[in-house]
Formats: sequence, C-alpha cells, structure tokens
Amino acid sequence: SHRIMLGPLVAAIDQGTSSTRFLVFNSKTAELLSHHQVEIKQSFPKEGWVEEDPKEILQSVYECMERTCEKLTQLNIDISNIKAIGVTNQRETTLVWDKETGEPLYNAIVWLDLRTQSTVERLINKTPGRNKNHLKHKTGLPISTYFSAVKLRWLMDNVDEVHQAVVSHRAMFGTVDSWLIWCLTGGKSGGVHCTDVTNASRTMLFNIHTMDWDPELCKYFGIPMEILPRVRSSSEIYGLMKICSSRKSGALSGIPISGCLGDQSAALVGQMCFQDGQAKNTYGTGCFLLRNTGVKPVMSEHGLLTTVAYKLGRDKPACYALEGSVAIAGAVVRWLQDNLGIIGSSEELEKLAASVGTSYGCYFVPAFSGLYAPYWEPSARGIICGLTQFTNKSHLAFAALEAVCFQTREILDAMNQDSGIPLTQLQVDGGMTSNKLLMQLQADILCIPVVKPSMPETTALGAAMAAGAAEGVSVWSLNPEDLSEVTSEKFEPQINPEESEFRYARWKKAVEKSMNWET
Ligand code: G3P
Repeated sequence: SHRIMLGPLVAAIDQGTSSTRFLVFNSKTAELLSHHQVEIKQSFPKEGWVEEDPKEILQSVYECMERTCEKLTQLNIDISNIKAIGVTNQRETTLVWDKETGEPLYNAIVWLDLRTQSTVERLINKTPGRNKNHLKHKTGLPISTYFSAVKLRWLMDNVDEVHQAVVSHRAMFGTVDSWLIWCLTGGKSGGVHCTDVTNASRTMLFNIHTMDWDPELCKYFGIPMEILPRVRSSSEIYGLMKICSSRKSGALSGIPISGCLGDQSAALVGQMCFQDGQAKNTYGTGCFLLRNTGVKPVMSEHGLLTTVAYKLGRDKPACYALEGSVAIAGAVVRWLQDNLGIIGSSEELEKLAASVGTSYGCYFVPAFSGLYAPYWEPSARGIICGLTQFTNKSHLAFAALEAVCFQTREILDAMNQDSGIPLTQLQVDGGMTSNKLLMQLQADILCIPVVKPSMPETTALGAAMAAGAAEGVSVWSLNPEDLSEVTSEKFEPQINPEESEFRYARWKKAVEKSMNWET
C-alpha cells in the first residue's frame, strides 16, 4: 500500500475534566486527520469533594496516543510526519508526586472541589475589610476554592505522604500539564518539571505582572517554592517525548513537546482570537468566556478574572484576558444522567428538552460547587424552583440547558460592562455546542448571534498551533494572513427581547435564592 504525502503534522494532547483526547492536525490546512477520546472517571469521596486518579489520567493519554497512531497507520499516514506535540489541560486541578519513585502521593484534587471552603472563608475573614479580592492586584483572582494554592495547602496539611515528601525534598507539585509533561519526558529518570504562564496564572502563587512565582504569595499560603515547576512560555521546546519502545505509542519517542496552554487559553488561540477585544466561550464541564485584552492586564470591576491568555514564545509578549468562569455547564448533563438517571446520554437530553420547548416556569441553578463568576460565592448550593404538578422531566431537561445559557448571559453582561464595548456576536466551541437546541437558546437569551466553527476541536487546535509555531519546530505560522479560513455555523436570536429579559429576570431571582436559602 502506498503512503499519502502530507505536510508536517502536529499533534495535541487535550486532557479535560471529563475526557482525554489525542488529535493530529495537518499544519498547512489545520485539518483534523485523526483522533481518539477516552472518558475520565471522577470520584466524589465526600460531599463537595471531586477527585481523579493521576495514573488513570496518564494511562488515558497513552491509550489515546496508541489508538490514534493505529488509526493513522490505517489511513496510510506515516507517524514520523508528526513534528511536534502540544499539551492542553483542565486548569487548577492539583497534583503532588514523589520525584524519586514517580508515584502520585494523592489523587488529583479537581478544580471543582469544595473541600477548602472553610479555609477560604477563614482566609477572607482575616483580610482587611473581609475582602476576597485581597490578592487580586497580583494574581488577577479572588480568594476562592477554585485555584490551586488552597488545594495544595490542604494536601500538605492533611496527607501525611505529601507532608513527608515535602519535608524530605522529594515532592513535586503540578497542575495536569506539569504531571503529563514530566511523565512523558522521562518521569523519574530525567523528566522535565515545568508549566506554562497560562497554567501558572491559575494557581494563585503566580504574579501576573512579573510573570513569575511570587515569594510573598508562596509565603502567604505556606508553599515551599522548591516544589513548584519552572514557568515557561506557552510555545517553546520543553523536552522530547520519551516512551518505552514496548508501548504501541513508542513511535512518538523523540518528538518535541513544544506547546502548553490551559484549555481555555488554547481555545482562545484555536479560535484565532489574537486581537484585543476578541472573545470566545467554551462549553465543557464548566463554561468559560475569555476576552483578549492585549498586552495589558485589565482588572475587572464586575467579578471577572484577569488571567494570562498566552505567551507564544520566550521572547514574545504575554497577552492577557478577562475571564468569566462558570463551574457547571456540561457537568449538569452528567448529573441528570448519573445522579437522577432521567437521561441515558446528552443526545437524549436535547431530545427531551426539544419535545417541550419550554421549562414551563421551572428554573434550575446548578450551583453544585458554589457559584463562580460573577458572584464567587462558595456557600451557594443548587436549587430547582417554580415546580408545579404539571412539571415533568422534559421541563427539567429544558431548565438545565437554559441554566447554561443564563450563566453565560451573566458573564457576558459583566464582560460588556467591564470593557464598555458590547460584543456583537459570540464565538463558541466545546462539546455542548453540538446541541443545536442549546445554541439556539443561547442566541435567544443573549439577543446576539452565536457563531460556532465547523471544526469543533478548537482547544486542541490551539495547543497544536502553539507547538507547531515554537522556535526550533516552526512548521505552523501564526501570521494571521497564513492562517486557514474557518467555516462556521451561525445561530440568530429568534425570540423577542422582552420575552428574553423576562426569563432572565426570573433566573436572577432563582440565583438569589441559591445564595441565601440557608439563612
Ligand atoms: O478551569 C477549569 C477548566 O480549565 C476546565 O475545562 O473543558 O474541562 O470544563 P473543561
């Protein structure tokens, strides 16, 4: 059989909260050639706790790489055409491992986890004026359960193995990007311990102005700096893949890992939002709206985060973004499926909701992990209200989809208020965007068009672009003129704005109840 001639290929590992993917793109056309996806198990050992197994995460990456390589071989595509690999990941999720044994010392504490709620409340109460934005001038973030520093502190205080490893200088801390890059570049025999500026900016230990770990912040949280990974740009060669030749993915050994971005930053790059003012909203486990603010960090007055968007090369400037983070989006679908059992799949949810086309006055605020932007209220809890004898599971399904749209509306409003220049359309991506009903509802609730690229894997694309553009690889140009045109689908608002405002006002009332129902 003959081999197809192709330009250089670039691969991406996309390790999200709910699943892992490995994808291979043609660097000349940005075409997705092959990919594989594996679900990740989440465990909930106690109320509010969310954990994942670091070894399962790593294993899922190997499995995705192996299966994708097999598929490429079936397509007669030579694996040696892959010139670089990018890593993109669920952010904030916190791991500690032993650098001598290579073993994780506890499960990964997932970003959604609430176990640090009392620590966070105590820290806020100690600040002058009980101000949750006490560290915002350096970090761009409010003190919250969301970010890594408090999770790492919890591990040091509550897990003896972690404490011991820290004391005996064997501990390494990392977010998922660091864990994967360390393992894939050799692990205990010479693995590279690094992270990129976008992931670092989510730890609360990183100063977004100096672009480095901040000794004062580390002291504040009591974190020894020697356990932190080295911070690098989002696009440079970190190390070479080192995979045991007995593995089917052994053929990937020697390929440089040269791109690394938190998944929301990667989606911003993959959607080509390189200009000040351009924005995208990604519907994954959570939902994250990022707006590029160029080379200046803009501090929000309306509950948004300031975060590092990307730094595409060691000598390139860092760009920043304002971010509206919603904790629960796709996670509500999984909850309806796993916890209530009223649907068997996400496709079923769409059908069920479409069969009624209304929530019939039912509002569902899925504040399972407290509320994130713009409220930052860890004590909020989920609430379903407006029920009557008439309400059935289809209405509940509709209310769940509407909740995702209302939450996006809240962060879009905050974004428009902060920037003073309202967005005239919303670029979207992520798993849930295959739900056409959701996309139409979103346009209706925002009263602006929603635009979705026809290639949905924008997060992975962004990581591949960063990897392919790195110095020493240079197979992908990030020059806007060379970037391939993206085809997209557009959803126009169809209901009248008064109807939309009425429903949104009701939603706001429900949100208030989710925050105050205990008192
Ligand atoms: O901040 C958490 C975010 O990075 C997770 O993204 O796509 O797994 O919901 P996702």
